[in-house]
Amino acid sequence: MAGNSLGKEFVLTLFGESHGKCAGVVVDGCPAGLELREADVQRELDKRIPKGSGIVSSRIEEDKVEILSGTFKDRTTGAPIAMIVQNRDVDSRPYELIKDVPRPGHADYPAKVRYGGFNDYRGGGQFSGRMTAALVMAGAVAKKLLAGVGVEVLAYALSIGDVRSRTDLTCEELRASVYENPVRCGDRNAALLMEKSVRQAAESRDSLGGVVRVIAYDVPPGIGDPLFGSLDSELSQALFSIPAVKGVEFGSGFGAAQSKGSQNNDPLTVVKGNVAFRTNNAGGVLGGLSTGQEIVAQVAFKPTPSISRPQMSVDLQSMKETELNLAGRHDPCIVPKAVPVVEAMVSIVLADFMIRSGRILRILK
Ligand SMILES: Cc1cc2nc3c(=O)[nH]c(=O)nc-3n(C[C@H](O)[C@H](O)[C@H](O)COP(=O)(O)O)c2cc1C
Repeated sequence: MAGNSLGKEFVLTLFGESHGKCAGVVVDGCPAGLELREADVQRELDKRIPKGSGIVSSRIEEDKVEILSGTFKDRTTGAPIAMIVQNRDVDSRPYELIKDVPRPGHADYPAKVRYGGFNDYRGGGQFSGRMTAALVMAGAVAKKLLAGVGVEVLAYALSIGDVRSRTDLTCEELRASVYENPVRCGDRNAALLMEKSVRQAAESRDSLGGVVRVIAYDVPPGIGDPLFGSLDSELSQALFSIPAVKGVEFGSGFGAAQSKGSQNNDPLTVVKGNVAFRTNNAGGVLGGLSTGQEIVAQVAFKPTPSISRPQMSVDLQSMKETELNLAGRHDPCIVPKAVPVVEAMVSIVLADFMIRSGRILRILK
């Protein structure tokens, strides 16, 4: 496979570019009979851009989804579902500069080498964060499938720069508060400080990184396959496919490396006749299989590479060092837009596993 497809039974394939006609996705393998309207997908897409907040790129796309195939009478037919959002607010002029002077931190240089200079460099082409709209569209289908078996996936901004959210947020709190503020943080006090930090970074023509936490609720125990098909390896692959992701950890993650077995093991117990665990340092995965606890992962995003401060690069025509002064419209922090993307990717992988394990049927009534 050439790298634009993901999944084994529930398979998505991305197409489009940042400044081409559209960003799109084909979802193949979706069970027949799922109720699916454009409004269902639109609801998820609308979470991607905190409108009017001024803390994301000033490129304003309506992002109106069009379902081109795979549904009939508001239900999936079992045929591939093709969905697009058109690109309208496109200004490609600033990108003539980066054709020969790659942006530090972006994919411009390796993409030029990989595609022999034929790649569409406008707006970063297929390496643009815009392509995550396609992931969110596929994620909307996956979320509907998971809702049918009682699984819910929620994410929030755990940190932006050096501001950190509370970590004891309940599922109800997350549902009610994450998308009520532009930084997508469930902790209202931290959200205000995060927003301030992002604005300050933008004013100083710089950018910030951060961490998104994602939690999958009510995943039954025993989901996953051995080794290369393990739940955490497939989730990691999907999460690392999101542009700007630099780290993924489950549960206590890198912290586990500094703790002792006696501290890190999650003792088993019995609650209402069922096996349960007293703690969740494992992040809901043992041996690549779900334990029945919440699946918890942290996803680290680097600061947005495109900043409007002068930066050193190389002119690939003259092969001389040169200063790059970048124009264009960019997100001063990727985290707010990435929160629904992380939710989408985890939902896509879980839906695939649930179909593979027969817990989501191929025909839904
Ligand atoms: C939702 C989202 C929005 C993004 N917005 C921008 C942006 O405005 N400007 C930019 O330079 N990079 C942006 N990026 C990051 C780049 O796409 C990414 O850093 C680049 O493709 C290089 O890939 P890498 O960071 O994974 O190595 C965004 C990423 C995501 C997920």
